[in-house]
Amino acid sequence: MKTKQDEKMNLLEEYMQEMKKQPYAESQLIGILHKAQELYGYLPEDVMEAIAYGMNIPAARIWGVASFYHYFNLEPVGKYTLSLCLGTACYVKGAGKILDRMREYLNVDVGQTTEDRLFTLQEARCLGACGLAPVLMVNDRIYGKLTPDSTIELLDKLKKDAK
Ligand code: FES
Repeated sequence: MKTKQDEKMNLLEEYMQEMKKQPYAESQLIGILHKAQELYGYLPEDVMEAIAYGMNIPAARIWGVASFYHYFNLEPVGKYTLSLCLGTACYVKGAGKILDRMREYLNVDVGQTTEDRLFTLQEARCLGACGLAPVLMVNDRIYGKLTPDSTIELLDKLKKDAK
C-alpha cells in the first residue's frame, strides 16, 4: 500500500523528471526546492538527498541553496506560517511594533515555531502588497492594514479555529 510519503516522493520525482528535460540552471533547482517545500511543508534532509541523487547535483550544493534563501524552511513548521513583512513600506507603518507584539504573544523569535506547533514566525521583505501596509501573510493569505492589536486578534482567531 502506498503511503502519503510515497505519494509525495512520486510527485517530487515526476516534477524532477520534467525539470531534467531542460538545461540545468540554478532557477530549476530553486523550483524543485519550492515544489518539495509545497509537498512537505519544509525541506527534510532525506528529501534534499533525494533531490541531490535525482538531479545529480552534490548534496552540499542543495544544502547551500536551501540555506541561502530565507523562504526555505529546514525545520518542520507550524500549522500557520506567519510571514510578517519588514519591507520599507510596512516598516514605516509600524511592522516593527507588530513584530515585537507577535514575539511576545507567541513567545518565539523569528525563525522559530511555537511549542504547540501552531505558529511559525518568519519575516519577509516586501510581499508586493505595499498599498496594504503593514502586511502579514498567513500561509498563502495576505492580511493588511494591521495594527499590533488587530494582529493579536487575528492570531487569537487562528488559534480558536485550529481547535
Ligand atoms: S513593503 Fe511590505 S508589502 Fe511591500
